[in-house]
Amino acid sequence: MSNTPTTHNGLLSWVEEMMALCTPDDVQWCDGSQEEWNRLTESLVAQGTFIRLNPSKRPNSFLARSQTSDVARVEDRTFICVKRPDEAGPTNRWADPAEMKAILKEKFRGSMKGRTMYVIPFCMGPLDSPLAKIGVEITDSAYVVVNMRIMCHMGTHVLQRLENEAAGTVEKKRDGHGCFIPCAHTVGLPLSPGQADSPWPCNDEKYICHFPDTREIWSYGSGYGGNALLGKKCLALRIASNIAREHKWMAEHMLITGLHAPDGEVTYVAAAFPSACGKTNMAMLVPPEQYVAQGWKTSIVGDDIAWLWPHEDGKLHAINPETGFFGVAPGTSYDTNSIAMDSMKENSIFTNVALTDDGDVWWEGMTKEAPAHLIDWTGQDWTPGCGRTAAHANARFTAPASQCPTIDPNWQNPDGVPIDAIIFGGRRATTMPLVFQAFNWGHGVYLGATMGSEMTAAAAGTIGKVRRDPMAMLPFCGYNMGAYFGHWLEMRRYLRHLPRFFHVNWFRKNAEGKYLWPGFGENMRVLEWIVRRCKGEAAGHETQIGWTPSFEDFQVEGLPGFTEEQFHACMAFDRHEWKTELVSQAEFFIELYDHLPKELLFQRELLAARLV
Ligand code: GTP
Ligand code: SPV
Ligand code: MN
Repeated sequence: MSNTPTTHNGLLSWVEEMMALCTPDDVQWCDGSQEEWNRLTESLVAQGTFIRLNPSKRPNSFLARSQTSDVARVEDRTFICVKRPDEAGPTNRWADPAEMKAILKEKFRGSMKGRTMYVIPFCMGPLDSPLAKIGVEITDSAYVVVNMRIMCHMGTHVLQRLENEAAGTVEKKRDGHGCFIPCAHTVGLPLSPGQADSPWPCNDEKYICHFPDTREIWSYGSGYGGNALLGKKCLALRIASNIAREHKWMAEHMLITGLHAPDGEVTYVAAAFPSACGKTNMAMLVPPEQYVAQGWKTSIVGDDIAWLWPHEDGKLHAINPETGFFGVAPGTSYDTNSIAMDSMKENSIFTNVALTDDGDVWWEGMTKEAPAHLIDWTGQDWTPGCGRTAAHANARFTAPASQCPTIDPNWQNPDGVPIDAIIFGGRRATTMPLVFQAFNWGHGVYLGATMGSEMTAAAAGTIGKVRRDPMAMLPFCGYNMGAYFGHWLEMRRYLRHLPRFFHVNWFRKNAEGKYLWPGFGENMRVLEWIVRRCKGEAAGHETQIGWTPSFEDFQVEGLPGFTEEQFHACMAFDRHEWKTELVSQAEFFIELYDHLPKELLFQRELLAARLV
């Protein structure tokens, strides 16, 4: 190969191998420069994949519309390829590594014909963080390249760091490629000479495959989100959870946010909510006016993924491995999340939202009233009341974290930030109160392990059905879920200062199906109690399920009409609902039985005993 920007032998030979397999017309090594972004976005516009948004409204920003069949992660086509099914566990789709590799080799053979193969060196985490991981993605999608440039450190400086590592400072990976995680991606639509390209090439057949033993990722057939931006869910969660287990740290589906009290003290918390259940919103929370007046504010370190490790100071520290937000667009507005709105003012990519007549974007919930005319996410004319949504429910924005007005000054600190509270929560119409605190670490792990949530549009499947989603990691844990719980319990041993555990539910409804709690910025009222509990300042009541606040512990000024009665409705404990909950938890535990730590079974027994 000529004109390669690296002398890294492992990387060169892997890229050569992939070229021979995929037979692209051309290879481009990505340097991550502005010039490269300009060139690629222009070529995406020329190809019809991108529409340039009105530069006076949304500078340097683009709209992409996917195929209607390629709009979310495909969990039923996501595989963990390890020797024994048992290592992947009953919550993952297992495949034999050798058999799957043979299938993939056939799928990838000639898959990039008529296309360019891009080589993307990227780094998850601040480059100089002890946890940072380097990956190299090869892809035939320029859309993936420009999204990756927003979502992670990418380009020449990463390559440089990889070369330095290969020079001998860092452990060799077992796959023999040197110190990077190879990530192979193709949309799976080769072009014959003269064949017109599709604006959103993809294949009906999809494979999202992980090889934890050799630390490899192979993704075929999809160009969307977590299926294609391989640094995100594939590397930073499924592969990283395997590495983390081995090296005694944790790769989690969590936001990281700083809660700044009036005295200037910052409490950092990490929260695991399932996909499309409010992580971005909480990470960018704007406190109610009276809190702002008192001197409270928030800052964001991350909105989707946290890598946590026991720091020498004895505390659990966290970094965000990403540098951008790939956030749910519908429902995001200046009312619900002004920080997100400000973060995506420019240099952003929008996928599957609607186009306004003046060349800007729109989605359900962005403004109270819909524009009189739009082009919807499928490219058709749209008017209010036409019976279709203008944006897809899983439409997303890709925006640089550096543009976020509340970005935390420590967000790129290689040392991370110390975590004082871990919060679990799902979308539960019943049973789960607004907030309660776990009795201790083991009980906290149990709360995370038994988390449930209604399914959302982030994954293809039945929306609204309640499923167990332990630690919000059901689709993202790269090994046996029972063993993962064991790892969580074990992590306690490596910490001298333990974070506190909490469970929250912003989504409880009344009999009429209306939310009992206003949510969004008002969640600050719950977070204040959490902060004060962490500092030992707030009272709590010991109940059957954990520690709870009383009405007096809550600031309700500025919440007109929110009565003590409503508070009790949000906090209500219903023994019959909890019995149903226990039965459903038992069903889940039975599935995981052979790797499930006994401690969790005992936690369930203890809860049952307290319910009597
Ligand atoms: P992923 O990026 O998919 O991992 O999800 P996320 O957890 O970051 O999801 P996000 O914050 O984008 O969730 C968006 C959905 O949650 C929208 O439907 C919001 O309206 C809803 N949401 C967020 N916060 C609240 C809240 O406090 N109350 C209510 N009722 N809905 C909320
Ligand atoms: C999620 O589904 O949890 C996401 C979006 O954060 S994706 O990157 O597509 O997985
Ligand atoms: Mn997510």
